[in-house]
Amino acid sequence: MIDFKKFASYSKAGPRYTSYPTAVEFKENFGVSDFESALKRNDKTANLPLSIYVHLPFCKSACYFCACNVIYTNSEDKKERYLGYLKKELSLISKKMDTSREVVQLHFGGGTPTYFSAKQLEYIINAIYQTFPNFAKNAEISCEVDPRHFTHEQMVVLKSGGFNRISFGVQDFDSVVQKAINRFQSIELMEKVVKIARDQGIRSINFDLIYGLPYQNLSSFMDTLKKAVSLGADRFAIFNYAHVPWIKRTMGNIDEKTLPSPEVKLEILKNTIAFLKDCGYEMIGMDHFAKSDDELTLASQNAELRRNFQGYTTRGFSQTIGIGLTSIGEGLDYYAQNFKDIKQYEAALDNGELPIERGIALSYEDRLRKEVIMQLMNNTQLEFKKIELLFNIDFKTYFAKEIQRLQTFIDDGILEVKDDGIYANATGGMLIRNIAMVFDAYLDKIPEDQRRFSKTV
Ligand SMILES: C[S@@+](CC[C@H](N)C(=O)[O-])C[C@H]1O[C@@H](n2cnc3c(N)ncnc32)[C@H](O)[C@@H]1O
Ligand code: SF4
Repeated sequence: MIDFKKFASYSKAGPRYTSYPTAVEFKENFGVSDFESALKRNDKTANLPLSIYVHLPFCKSACYFCACNVIYTNSEDKKERYLGYLKKELSLISKKMDTSREVVQLHFGGGTPTYFSAKQLEYIINAIYQTFPNFAKNAEISCEVDPRHFTHEQMVVLKSGGFNRISFGVQDFDSVVQKAINRFQSIELMEKVVKIARDQGIRSINFDLIYGLPYQNLSSFMDTLKKAVSLGADRFAIFNYAHVPWIKRTMGNIDEKTLPSPEVKLEILKNTIAFLKDCGYEMIGMDHFAKSDDELTLASQNAELRRNFQGYTTRGFSQTIGIGLTSIGEGLDYYAQNFKDIKQYEAALDNGELPIERGIALSYEDRLRKEVIMQLMNNTQLEFKKIELLFNIDFKTYFAKEIQRLQTFIDDGILEVKDDGIYANATGGMLIRNIAMVFDAYLDKIPEDQRRFSKTV
């Protein structure tokens, strides 16, 4: 078994691989016309169902750890104005693609979607259904909810709009940690909001927690975890805190000296996995946990888990249509991201143009490496045959150099390369970002000290 020191030596700046190529490779030379052709091409040839992501960027106050694309505001006008632009974007999208295709996933993310009122949420939901009328009966429809902004009226609107999954941001219950991250929420508040969701028949409730936050230690985090489990969540996302103050200025409020060391983080992670297992939750993918009979757990056991910008799914690969500021769309052969600046976003729509700021068209090589990296990230294993059939290659010949570079993981006893595939064990699973990085063709071009990613451990 790998020791703590060795494990900590794996702590490097590395991508989280929500996409490959990563967002730093999205460029402005991929513009609106490239995006429109990609939409047409995917309509005709991709034969994929749709997944819709709607970004609702507003929050009342800054949580200092937050890496999301957020606008802090108290202005009701700003929120109301945004709704009008969402509607404009949807109406443009419907002219540029076949919106009658089947939708298997809809996700409201943020920011804080429930910073919008019940009436405003209803307006957005109606606009989505008017644009995309063909939802699958078993579509996953989910909303990220900040417990500090959530009412019974909002839940009623979500429920009647078909929402069947709620994800609450919890983060940490410890008062010292809460002060350091500028986010206060009690266990009583959590009890109240869970009840609101359960009373409306929501059977899938997820809690987001973060480890690696200021002042956290093993005992404080386990205390948070016990409280969270007692509230009966069906799933947990337990994120490794991504500290990137050079990207998010509000993270400058966090004193780096108070962040737990990689060794402490590893201890937290190991104990979290063991504790949640005892409570009946399996680890799936990199940072998610679900009950043993959850469809995500079953898909994970069959190495069939997929991940997109909305999280893990069992619905296979779909084409993601991103709506709203900064949202990212993904098709078989492209990624496209909307403007991050609200003025540019609005100006594009006022001009009658889709608000695409940048993106990337994927080459054959990108698609091949993307599939390898996603298989590893999602299932912590990879069957050569699956990739060989999809891309008509001999895996071991094509990736001979990469397989050699896996030797250090093999020597550390966390990975096996067998005749038929690559298999990480439980510890390798915790280091899966490091393993996936071996297959990233862009990373070698960035000197290690210039990689502006969060730490892998
Ligand atoms: C958009 S927020 C969730 C919805 C809502 N705004 C809230 O805070 O409850 C998405 C989640 O990303 C996670 N997150 C945000 N910043 C992070 C960071 N720097 N590192 C790791 N996870 C982070 C948090 O767990 C958060 O709940
Ligand atoms: S964690 Fe949620 S509520 Fe806090 S700033 Fe980020 S998006 Fe807003």
